[in-house]
Amino acid sequence: MHPTAVMLAVVLLGNPMLPLVSSQNAGFARSPLSETKLTGDTFELYCEVVGDPTPEIQWWYAEVNRADSFKQLWDGARKRRVSINMAYGKNGVSVLGITRLTLEDSGTYECRASNDPKRNDLRQNPALTWIRAQATISVLQKPKINASDQIILSPDVSAKPVILQCNLTTAHTPHNRSFWMKNGQEIVNTRTERRTTVYSIPKPRADDSGEYMCVYTFDKAPNANATIEVKAKPDVTSHKRSENRNEGENATISCKSVGYPHPTWTWRKVEGTSYKDIDNSTGRFFINNMNNHTELTILNLDITTDPGIYECNATNAIGNAAKTTILRVRSHLAPLWPFLGVLAEIIILVVIIVVYEKRKKPDDIIDDDEPVGPTKTNSTNNHKDKNIRQRNTK
Ligand SMILES: *[C@@H]1O[C@H](CO)[C@@H](O)[C@H](O)[C@H]1NC(C)=O
Ligand SMILES: *[C@@H]1O[C@H](CO)[C@@H](O)[C@H](O)[C@H]1NC(C)=O
Ligand SMILES: *[C@@H]1O[C@H](CO)[C@@H](O)[C@H](O)[C@H]1NC(C)=O
Ligand SMILES: *[C@@H]1O[C@H](CO)[C@@H](O)[C@H](O)[C@H]1NC(C)=O
Ligand SMILES: *[C@@H]1O[C@H](CO)[C@@H](O)[C@H](O)[C@H]1NC(C)=O
Ligand SMILES: *[C@@H]1O[C@H](CO)[C@@H](O)[C@H](O)[C@H]1NC(C)=O
Ligand SMILES: *[C@@H]1O[C@H](CO)[C@@H](O)[C@H](O)[C@H]1NC(C)=O
Ligand SMILES: *[C@@H]1O[C@H](CO)[C@@H](O)[C@H](O)[C@H]1NC(C)=O
Repeated sequence: MHPTAVMLAVVLLGNPMLPLVSSQNAGFARSPLSETKLTGDTFELYCEVVGDPTPEIQWWYAEVNRADSFKQLWDGARKRRVSINMAYGKNGVSVLGITRLTLEDSGTYECRASNDPKRNDLRQNPALTWIRAQATISVLQKPKINASDQIILSPDVSAKPVILQCNLTTAHTPHNRSFWMKNGQEIVNTRTERRTTVYSIPKPRADDSGEYMCVYTFDKAPNANATIEVKAKPDVTSHKRSENRNEGENATISCKSVGYPHPTWTWRKVEGTSYKDIDNSTGRFFINNMNNHTELTILNLDITTDPGIYECNATNAIGNAAKTTILRVRSHLAPLWPFLGVLAEIIILVVIIVVYEKRKKPDDIIDDDEPVGPTKTNSTNNHKDKNIRQRNTK
């Protein structure tokens, strides 16, 4: 068709044609997924719908075995445990969240969407105007685990072995396996099928402290776990004794620690037997604290105020530890000094040679008259040298 003919058709047919051209029925881009959860936990269901105009999204719920009686869910329902968050952009997105799950939260959750202008007309059959997507949520009683109490490691070198124990005392179904984790990482070779599982640390040190977790796995149900905290006083393990920089450069000094819980870090300057807080009136000092690592950065080093001893201090609930670093700041010219030294030596050497040559000239004239002279003196000198050397070696 010729372009002008299309335009003519649009102008002639006008409004009646527009909805046909631009509207699009609602369709699911992402529908909610069935899940098995434990009491006390949280679930979220996602529903994303395409359509033009952007569809409206609702959430409905039916109890187990009552799929004929759906009730609409509202934000704040079930004593504020239900939340519904909508975002209407190009697509419509809705997230249903339920916290602190109970066994009664089990059932069928349905996402309904429609952009039909007649969708809320009571005379219409909702089955025709709304599209639906369902997910089944099963809530199981959370298994009970009897786990060891938290442990505080003693700083003694002859520390007693530490034994962590978990016992799965009740479970909705028999468990499959168990294993141990430390700081979120599985500890290798700890997998077992037993109900009671033990992890032992024969010679505990500060870096054995951390968050330990025993995890029980189940067939077709979420893992159950219990956490045991093993705490220890911080120990500053890695730091540089000294840092040498030139004035105007930046310096970074850092400390690392072991010991759990992670410490809070502070920096200060050691002045003789006392301490001084870092004076940041020039705005050149920056402190970057991470869990077990801290960095003090000084920009544009000042040769008069910045050199000195800096101390990092790691403090947690169990205790504290500190280490010092000496910061030396050299003058701008410092890197030139070896070069200047060599240059000075060359200049002195040249001066000596020149002076010597000038003084030598008159002698040479005398020597010309007595050609035998220099050989004589040379030989005697050589003898003297030999004697000296021999004496030296004795
Ligand atoms: C948990 O285990 C400890 C040690 O095995 C035991 O003394 C305690 O009675 C147990 N508690 C429960 C609730 O089973
Ligand atoms: C583990 O729990 C079960 C059930 O409560 C109990 O019979 C068993 O003695 C416990 N085992 C240990 C090692 O505490
Ligand atoms: C654990 O699960 C694995 C694979 O899913 C299965 O082969 C094994 O039989 C299960 N063990 C127990 C004790 O249920
Ligand atoms: C431990 O249990 C909590 C609560 O049930 C759960 O959210 C978490 O994912 C579990 N962690 C692991 C590593 O199994
Ligand atoms: C010092 O650090 C600042 C800020 O990070 C940077 O802009 C500057 O180039 C650094 N100076 C030197 C000499 O590296
Ligand atoms: C510091 O913590 C990170 C994770 O928080 C860990 O991977 C790393 O091993 C820790 N380093 C030390 C020295 O403890
Ligand atoms: C020092 O001052 C600068 C600039 O005001 C600021 O950005 C920085 O965070 C301060 N550093 C410390 C350790 O307080
Ligand atoms: C570290 O800082 C804490 C709190 O300011 C202080 O009590 C402790 O004495 C400091 N530790 C060391 C080793 O300097």
